[in-house]
Amino acid sequence: MSAKPKVLTVFGTRPEAIKLFPLVHSLERDGRMASRVCVTAQHRGMLDQVLDVAGLVPDHDLDVMRPDQTLDALTAALLTGIGGVLDAEQPQWVVVQGDTATAMAGAMAAYYRKIPVAHVEAGLRSGNIYHPWPEEVNRKIIGAIARLHCAPTETAAQALLAENVAPGAVHVTGNTVIDALHWVTARIAAEPGLADVMTPLAARFSGKRILGVTSHRRENFGGGMEAIAEAIATLAERPDVAVIFPVHLNPNVRAVMNARLAGLDNVALIEPLDYPNFARLLDVSTVMLSDSGGVQEEAPALGKPVLVMRETTERPEGIEAGTARLVGTDSARIVAETSRLLDDPVAYTAMSRAHNPFGDGQSAQRIVNLLAAG
Ligand code: UD1
Ligand code: UDP
Repeated sequence: MSAKPKVLTVFGTRPEAIKLFPLVHSLERDGRMASRVCVTAQHRGMLDQVLDVAGLVPDHDLDVMRPDQTLDALTAALLTGIGGVLDAEQPQWVVVQGDTATAMAGAMAAYYRKIPVAHVEAGLRSGNIYHPWPEEVNRKIIGAIARLHCAPTETAAQALLAENVAPGAVHVTGNTVIDALHWVTARIAAEPGLADVMTPLAARFSGKRILGVTSHRRENFGGGMEAIAEAIATLAERPDVAVIFPVHLNPNVRAVMNARLAGLDNVALIEPLDYPNFARLLDVSTVMLSDSGGVQEEAPALGKPVLVMRETTERPEGIEAGTARLVGTDSARIVAETSRLLDDPVAYTAMSRAHNPFGDGQSAQRIVNLLAAG
């Protein structure tokens, strides 16, 4: 009997882990291929939070995170580390997700060995190589290498075809983040205690409308983040509002947010939440303010208005669906757009209808079928 084809899934940061755990679960359940997992631990704490919740035990852990690491040192460590794992495992497929340094280096290391790459969440493009930076170029590099492009939406698939990717290599699978959201929602329903970190916060701010905030984009470091912090401080002056802000572990984010927001009465600056507790934050928030990619996808699925604190987005579907709005990083604009949603019920209702532009929760199995087909 011949051995099963081997699929090596490589990831390193929180969002990749959230979007790939459904695929690893599906590979294991499906059984047609042997699943191996390599984590780079580009993120340490925020990755481990997801591994714990999803019950994943990696076969390889490169533990590359160093405090405030530079992009070039990080990329060099990733490339050599992943290369060593590929030599040891010799998989038939390497799977990478999205646009991080880990995903880009994983694709490059596979390419250097002529191992086929499957790209999950393929075809996102902002058209600006500095927004998001360096993710737009990471995606383009992976797109040049991948044999299988799993586009989350028709828009993403069209972007790949416009770059002359072979049509037979492009498949609209939906985004696995919706699989993850369905999975975690079911887990919380079965075991509400999983989301208990949020309970005292919800009690502390009972009677107030909650703004859920996340921010971490490199292109917002410095002035952009200071402006975001200023806007949040202004919004928190309203007596009817409270802010819950799980602060990303990147020191460039923490320094700015702590300096402006620590100690304000209506602001809870907290540690990153694990995925069940973050799903609960999405649920209890009146409005999300975020520069995150994943939050732009989860919010429409939940019908939760999200104001996107970026200049551009590669996820136009949430905006077209009416649940997301691009507000940039100007303090006055962020305050004005948030106040409009808080004070105008018609504007709020218009932004709070649930849509599923990013998928139906069955993306992981579609991708497994594509990998199995070879
Ligand atoms: C990375 C990705 C970005 C993604 C984001 C998701 C790149 C270049 N950037 O950005 O695309 O949107 O993750 O969150 O791949 N840190 C910790 N503990 C952690 C995580 C980070 O201490 O669990 C600190 C470390 O000091 C680390 C720094 O944050 O050096 C930056 O981490 P890094 O992965 O380089 O960049 P992010 O800004 O997190
Ligand atoms: N998230 C989380 N805990 C938090 C903040 C975010 O679990 O405290 C989840 C969120 O639900 C989404 C993902 O992390 O699925 C987004 O990650 P991040 O914003 O770090 O990266 P991006 O999506 O911008 O690449």
